[in-house]
Order: sequence, then structure tokens, then C-alpha cells
Amino acid sequence: GKRGFIFDLDGVIVDTAKYHYLAWKNLANELGFDFTEEQNEAFKGVSRRRCLEILLELGGITVDEAQFEQWLHEKNEDYLSYIARMDASEILPDVPRVLNFLKENHVPMALGSASKNAIPILEKVDLLSYFDTVVDGNKVTRAKPDPEVFLIAARDIQVSPENCVVFEDAVAGIEAANSADMISVGIGDPGVLSEAQHVFKDFTEIDIKFIKQLVHI
Ligand code: G6P
Ligand code: MG
Repeated sequence: GKRGFIFDLDGVIVDTAKYHYLAWKNLANELGFDFTEEQNEAFKGVSRRRCLEILLELGGITVDEAQFEQWLHEKNEDYLSYIARMDASEILPDVPRVLNFLKENHVPMALGSASKNAIPILEKVDLLSYFDTVVDGNKVTRAKPDPEVFLIAARDIQVSPENCVVFEDAVAGIEAANSADMISVGIGDPGVLSEAQHVFKDFTEIDIKFIKQLVHI
């Protein structure tokens, strides 16, 4: 059948995972505790709200709803201040090579991200036009590892789930792709992404032969 490709955004297309990390770390430090990169692994692919819940658990802090909302807002403002300075140089290496190849071969492409900031980020790095649909944190109700985001993306590009190839840097994202019955490609540490069907350190390690196999051409 016809294949479709679905890309996560943060940590796959653009190097924004580090900005999410810095913004959470800043908030944790302000609240009097540290937040490590190792702890940050569990935040990848996870909604802003859920991330704050986990952060407060780590700090042993309980708050009322108003304070919770205030810190959510503060983290996002901080994150957006990093994003404001971002340009196409922060597209991860060799991502355009793969996106261009798929575009030239008319392969349907979707973005599947938990972020509510996905569209402004894609605009900033000038990649929005590559995607036939953008399924982001404003469109889903159930967060990864729930497969909802990828199933909506598959429906939008009219490709059956088993013919979708998902690129993900998050454990929760790989889980979501697997439970949607899709082909999962991990971008990152093979030790962390052990559930993925294929893993590459980054896009520079992916050759066009591998992509062609996945596209069936
Ligand atoms: C992505 C990132 C997560 C982030 C989530 C929500 O999935 O990997 O770390 O928490 O998006 O992003 P947002 O931009 O809406 O705060
Ligand atoms: Mg990600």
C-alpha cells in the first residue's frame, strides 16, 4: 500500500528539546531544586501540563490550581523567549535532505507533536510547507504514549496506520507509534529507544536507500 511519513517535531526536526529542558530547569531552580538531563528524558513527547505535574512531584511540591496555571504560563513564556531567537540553522542536521527527497517523490507527510507551539516553530524555520497536515497539542486530547496524535495524522494523509513510518526521539512517542501499529524509527540513543523498530543517532546516519525501502520505491 501507499506509505506515509509522520515526524515528531521537538528533538527530531528541530533542536528545541534543549530549550524545553532549559525552561523546566529554570523553573525547578527557582523552586529550589535541580532538574537533570536524565530526568528530562521522561518529559520528551509529554504534554506541558503533565511535565509540570512530574516536575512538582520531583520537587515534592503540591500547589493549588491557580499557582499551577501560573507556573505553566511562566515555563512557556521562558520557552518562547528561547524560540524567538531561533532560525533555520536550528533544523537538525540532514533533516532537509530527507524531507526534500520525500517531497520530490510525493510521499504524504504529517507532523505529529504534543506541542502547542508547533506551527509558529515550523514557520520560524520555514518548514511548514512540507507537511500535508500538522497534528499538534491543540488537536489531541490524549497525550503520547496514547496513539491518538499519530492516528489522526494517518487519517489526515489518508494512509493506513500499518503503512505509516513515524520518526520519534521520545520513549513515549515510540510507544505511541508501536501501539498504533506503525513502523517506528527512533532518533537518539539506542539504549533509551530500545522499543523502536529502527534507531539512528540522527538523520546524518540515515541513507536514502533506507528511506527508499520504507517508501517502497
Ligand atoms: C513535545 C516535547 C515535550 C513538550 C511538549 C509540549 O512533545 O517533546 O517536551 O512538553 O511537546 O510542548 P509545548 O510547546 O506545548 O509546551
Ligand atoms: Mg520529540
